[in-house]
Amino acid sequence: MRVNTTLTVAGLAGLSLAAPPGYQSKNSTYYNPIIPGFHPDPSCIFLKEWDNTFFCASSSFLAFPAMPIHASKDLVNWKLVSHVQNRPEQFPGAGNITNSGGGWYAPTLRYHNSTFYVINADVDAPTEGTGFFTTKNPYDDNAWSNLTLVDVGGYDPDIFFDSDGTVYSQAAITVLSNPFTTEIQQFTIDLPSGNTTPRHFLSNGTGVQPPEGPHIYHKDGYYWLLLAQGGTALDHQVTISRSLHPTGPWELDPANPILTAINTTSLFQTVGHADLFQDAAGNWWGVALSTRSGPAYINWPMNRETVLYPVSWPKGQWPVADPVRGKMSGPLPPKNLNVPGVGTFVKDPDYYTFPAGSTLPRHFNYWRFPHLEKYAISPPGHANRLRLSPSNANLTAFASFDPLAGQTFVGRRQTDTLFTYTINMEFSPSRAGEEAGVTVFLSQDRHADIGVVYTDGAPHLRFRAEGPDAPATIVKPMPAAWCEKGVSFEIKAFNFTHYSLSAGPKGGALDTFALVNNSILSTSFTGAFVGPYATTNGRGESGTPAYFGNWVYQGQGQAIDDGQYYPSNGQKGGGLYSRDA
Ligand SMILES: *[C@@H]1O[C@H](CO)[C@@H](O)[C@H](O)[C@H]1NC(C)=O
Ligand SMILES: *[C@@H]1O[C@H](CO)[C@@H](O)[C@H](O)[C@H]1NC(C)=O
Ligand SMILES: *[C@@H]1O[C@H](CO)[C@@H](O)[C@H](O)[C@H]1NC(C)=O
Ligand SMILES: *[C@@H]1O[C@H](CO)[C@@H](O)[C@H](O)[C@H]1NC(C)=O
Ligand SMILES: *[C@@H]1O[C@H](CO)[C@@H](O)[C@H](O)[C@H]1NC(C)=O
Ligand SMILES: *[C@@H]1O[C@H](CO)[C@@H](O)[C@H](O)[C@H]1NC(C)=O
Ligand SMILES: *[C@@H]1O[C@H](CO)[C@@H](O)[C@H](O)[C@H]1NC(C)=O
Ligand SMILES: *[C@@H]1O[C@H](CO)[C@@H](O)[C@H](O)[C@H]1NC(C)=O
Ligand SMILES: *[C@@H]1O[C@H](CO)[C@@H](O)[C@H](O)[C@H]1NC(C)=O
Repeated sequence: MRVNTTLTVAGLAGLSLAAPPGYQSKNSTYYNPIIPGFHPDPSCIFLKEWDNTFFCASSSFLAFPAMPIHASKDLVNWKLVSHVQNRPEQFPGAGNITNSGGGWYAPTLRYHNSTFYVINADVDAPTEGTGFFTTKNPYDDNAWSNLTLVDVGGYDPDIFFDSDGTVYSQAAITVLSNPFTTEIQQFTIDLPSGNTTPRHFLSNGTGVQPPEGPHIYHKDGYYWLLLAQGGTALDHQVTISRSLHPTGPWELDPANPILTAINTTSLFQTVGHADLFQDAAGNWWGVALSTRSGPAYINWPMNRETVLYPVSWPKGQWPVADPVRGKMSGPLPPKNLNVPGVGTFVKDPDYYTFPAGSTLPRHFNYWRFPHLEKYAISPPGHANRLRLSPSNANLTAFASFDPLAGQTFVGRRQTDTLFTYTINMEFSPSRAGEEAGVTVFLSQDRHADIGVVYTDGAPHLRFRAEGPDAPATIVKPMPAAWCEKGVSFEIKAFNFTHYSLSAGPKGGALDTFALVNNSILSTSFTGAFVGPYATTNGRGESGTPAYFGNWVYQGQGQAIDDGQYYPSNGQKGGGLYSRDA
């Protein structure tokens, strides 16, 4: 371990820096993850010229709008300020992916010549989906450009603006599918055309497969190549090498991997896919993804979240990162919630009643492109309701599913280890197969639902889960009066390993149908969402709509170590840096 050296070196560096007015030079405590819930592959920058603001992009796979941009003034409170792809026209192929594990993988966010760039690959898009988006206003969805294609393939592309005007990109290129093997290749990009030079081998990092997630930095006369290696599970690690030229050859840091959770008992595992940036006071910071699974790696439904760690990077020397834990200390800027834009802070609870004239909050997501006519707020005769009109496809869909046909579902990320989600529904189905309810949803292959379904000539309450090891379906008759009077649903993560799914008459006692081990949702690349859905289960695109009211999501605790929690924002007792504090 190199913890002691870290302390000394960073301590000295801290002393030698004159913090600008309003910036801390003393340490304070903060908690990981800084952007909780499904927010993997973070790429972050700090911009003095944007009022001393930090911006981060993360992966979204098939969730839409895609590639959230969060902004913060204090590194702890992060507001959702836009999504890079928020209109199908920016890249129509993103709506057209059949593989439920495809979509927008790791983006790189950079700023050059007063323009924000996000370069990314839309994996499994039926047409080539690598390229970049630009904006001059990260607070406005509409300001994000269409995709400019960069015809190179691969995934995890980086963009690096060299001082001589050359724009380099490096990406993970698959050289063998089985066993999965990649190498980092490099090319240059002409702006604004997106034309490229031929790719060539750049690095294999330390050789641990697969090298991915490259980022290049220029500092102290060296080019530094940061990589993710070992794959995104328990062997994930961050390595660095340096060169006098952006094209190599690369000298490896003898201390590699510079950051990993391998061989630790920390709750925070799979640490990797990092990015580095400097704050206004000159302190270096890193972000990475991490899974709150502990080494057992069984229960991790939120999957890969964004974590923050201080970095000591003295002139001309290798950077040294503090290991990622739940409770951290570092020279944070002072608390500042004054972030522009209309989005919510990622740790905020939800209390939504869908009044007329309101719009769905920015952090609500669909799965692939939505058919917006299926979602209506306070439609005539149904004030303060969100109306969902059913899709032909249910949440699982089927092999011949046309992804552009859409699935009626809208959800928000699970952002707390413990939470309660409740919603009311009025729904009077009259045809076999008509169904509406709520789900905790990881992907089409993995979800647990509780809803009302018309079957055997009457509406029934049904619990159903999809995925290997899913508990058995439970169907119970339901009094017909509940259709119009309303049903209440609750999905609760009541401990580290289990959800309960409950239903009952609106305003009455709820009956718990099932306890679901969240291990059935702990897989692949995405993390859990909760929200309502409506479907005809394959009986066509038209059917009885469902009306939802009183959407409440409240966090009830964030795990920071084995059995240790700190309060969620808005929770009685307050979280640190809570907005309600
Ligand atoms: C974006 O793409 C759409 C559809 O391809 C096109 O109609 C629109 O003009 C494009 N926008 C810009 C700014 O190029
Ligand atoms: C969707 O994919 C199909 C099959 O590859 C293709 O024919 C169609 O043009 C695609 N549509 C869009 C909008 O990309
Ligand atoms: C900077 O952007 C402006 C237009 O936004 C463009 O005219 C100029 O060429 C760009 N400069 C560089 C160095 O990219
Ligand atoms: C990089 O790794 C790949 C996959 O193992 C291998 O095919 C390639 O030869 C390596 N390249 C170099 C220069 O070592
Ligand atoms: C993890 O432990 C094993 C066994 O002691 C060791 O071989 C390996 O190098 C360690 N890995 C790291 C990254 O420390
Ligand atoms: C502040 O935190 C950094 C990062 O952990 C550490 O390197 C430094 O020694 C700490 N400074 C003090 C004064 O404790
Ligand atoms: C959560 O509750 C379930 C059901 O009571 C129980 O089986 C499980 O052991 C609990 N998990 C933890 C971490 O306490
Ligand atoms: C959850 O399921 C996993 C996988 O089947 C199992 O290993 C684990 O013991 C279960 N946890 C509990 C608390 O039942
Ligand atoms: C989901 O839809 C598919 C395709 O229409 C159908 O085969 C399947 O039975 C449906 N699932 C349920 C639970 O109805």
